[in-house]
Amino acid sequence: MPADTIDSALVAINAAWACKRLYGDGRPAIEMHARRAAEALAAQGLPCRVVFLENKVVCDGVSLPSGKALCEGAFARLGRGLPDCLELRQGISPDSILRLIAALESGRWGDDIEGLRLCWVDRAPDALAPGEELITIGDPAFLSHELRTLWDQTAVKGEAPVKSVEALAGDVVTAVSAGSATVLPMANLKNHDEYTYVHAINVGVMSSALARAVGLSQDRVFDITCAALLHDVGKSTISLEIINKTGKLNDIERARMNDHPAEGAALLAASPGLAPVAVSVAYEHHMTLDGGGYPKAPKGWKVALASQVVHIADVFDALRTHRSYRKAMPLDKAIEILDAESGVAYDADLYRVFVDHVLNATPRAIDAESPEPRAA
Ligand SMILES: [Fe+2]
Ligand SMILES: [Fe+2]
Repeated sequence: MPADTIDSALVAINAAWACKRLYGDGRPAIEMHARRAAEALAAQGLPCRVVFLENKVVCDGVSLPSGKALCEGAFARLGRGLPDCLELRQGISPDSILRLIAALESGRWGDDIEGLRLCWVDRAPDALAPGEELITIGDPAFLSHELRTLWDQTAVKGEAPVKSVEALAGDVVTAVSAGSATVLPMANLKNHDEYTYVHAINVGVMSSALARAVGLSQDRVFDITCAALLHDVGKSTISLEIINKTGKLNDIERARMNDHPAEGAALLAASPGLAPVAVSVAYEHHMTLDGGGYPKAPKGWKVALASQVVHIADVFDALRTHRSYRKAMPLDKAIEILDAESGVAYDADLYRVFVDHVLNATPRAIDAESPEPRAA
């Protein structure tokens, strides 16, 4: 596959996209560019895979000359919200190109487009076991950036940007309800901060799946997903020296770290429009049914169902992540530890649903090298 031809075809798509943005639908120039792109591709030996990196486009190992312009133009959403790899196959028509442009413009990839497919390059379909389905909720780096922005805004303003949290939760709920399997975005964790944000996404995904499996209403599932994404937001008030410390925390630091549930609940209580369940989840996600954990609850305190949902997802994600003092726990070992807490830290029936309907529908988390996360 000559890279120049692919480059020309993508440049034609870029031109059609630019025309559409400038002049709107229905201009002959848009169809002309789309036809040109389809003709160029029809003359080539497809299939091939085109990967969109930051400012660079690579086709079958060759960097395309127009890569930077393409990444800044029509293809800017690939790798940033939409998957980063475009597979080109036989059968691409001008109509396929027009539908591709509409998807690139809207950021939404709906039904399959003939001859075209989007996927993540680092999780090729053949890496999945037979019968497994790959669903991603987005590029981990992009999502962690989104969540980091939310946290930064929360820390600075003293309240959560509710609309942004709800938009992210909507993506998570849609992805979880769309299929039977979810691949947790655990890859490419580069530092402690990134762990914290990606951890929140993972807990959001699993909590959403568990709330759904329990049979809660769509609205409740959505509210619990928002709450799960924000469960550790109190950590945004703790100094980075403590959050990023690789050694053991001293007593003062540990006490400060254990403040994060109360700090998070206070922040979220001051966030108008946020579902109240987010406040209780932030406060209770380290509490156990038998009165243990932290913050110390008064005798007879009943931990909310939503908080137990997030608690289970939180512990599971922490166990399945690499730490500096041990590797990520194998799945059976993690389940053994969770089993031992069932009925003590969280409701036994709820935990059974997690094992049967969330873990069994979730391919193992991608075990990437990641630094020690500071507390779940
Ligand atoms: Fe926490
Ligand atoms: Fe956590």
